[in-house]
Amino acid sequence: MNLTRRHVLLMMWIGAFLNLAPMPAEAAVRHIYLTWSGDPASSVRINVHTMTTPGQLAPQIHVVYDTVRAGAPGQYRWASTSTHIDPIEALPGRTVHSVLLDQLQPGTRHYYRVLSSQDAASTVYHFRTMPDEPSPLRFIVNGDMGIDEHARQLQSVAAAQDPQVALLGGDLAYSNGNWDHADRWDRWLDHWDSLMVTSTGDQIPIVSAIGNHEVRGGYAGTEQDAGLYLRYLPQSSKTFYDRQLGPHVALLVLDSGHLASHDGEPPGCSRHWCGTKTVTSALPSTTCRCSPDSASPAQPCHERVAASGNRCSRNLP
Ligand SMILES: [Fe+2]
Repeated sequence: MNLTRRHVLLMMWIGAFLNLAPMPAEAAVRHIYLTWSGDPASSVRINVHTMTTPGQLAPQIHVVYDTVRAGAPGQYRWASTSTHIDPIEALPGRTVHSVLLDQLQPGTRHYYRVLSSQDAASTVYHFRTMPDEPSPLRFIVNGDMGIDEHARQLQSVAAAQDPQVALLGGDLAYSNGNWDHADRWDRWLDHWDSLMVTSTGDQIPIVSAIGNHEVRGGYAGTEQDAGLYLRYLPQSSKTFYDRQLGPHVALLVLDSGHLASHDGEPPGCSRHWCGTKTVTSALPSTTCRCSPDSASPAQPCHERVAASGNRCSRNLP
């Protein structure tokens, strides 16, 4: 990373940004939360919802960040701008911005502030990247969450465990893919924003799988049937993907038939996807362990798994 060049560019950019940016009161940042779409040891995705008067342009969103806590935005060494801007047409005035921070330092706390062209800078947030060397991991696993008081209480208990990541198995806000129930997502994200920080104040990144209550009809849906989930929690171009959590833990996130079919194309243990994965960690027997280094790469995944002595009790959990 060329820090000097990035620093100069950052200063030029902040100067121009602050000089040109009026701050009308009608634009507001609604949510700020983290997902991963790349290597969790060196990147994070900051998702920012903004609300404007319907018909008005959404603000520009930028993030300044550093490994040390700074005060004024101009004191941060690095900056990134929205890599994805998604105006939610079904919810006039709402835009989901995603800002990808990459080239981060593994196992390190990073501080950041969100800058909007139509609003004041956010407070200072911080998070930790995953380590890239062997070390114990702390994570929580949950699903079927909802938005009632019980869910709030459970999230408080979960955050108190100081997890490095939250693995969510779907059925989060129970919007059922219905835009008329978008308020459930706002409440779910309000809970997440306020509750899901560790005892040291680190935001807890989300790795989530899609559930039937994210999809209109539950199963065999299309992307349009799961618009709220897909556009609010961007993590991958598909609803099945993998994430490496440190050097010894590989996570396979599956779609159990909500948008992707059990048959033919992925998810699960299909040759097309699972066969391209090298999973070196001790995954549960209900998932497949495949290696592209198999002596017979053209052999179906489940046969290779069986031949290798590993268990693959079924193709999908
Ligand atoms: Fe469920």
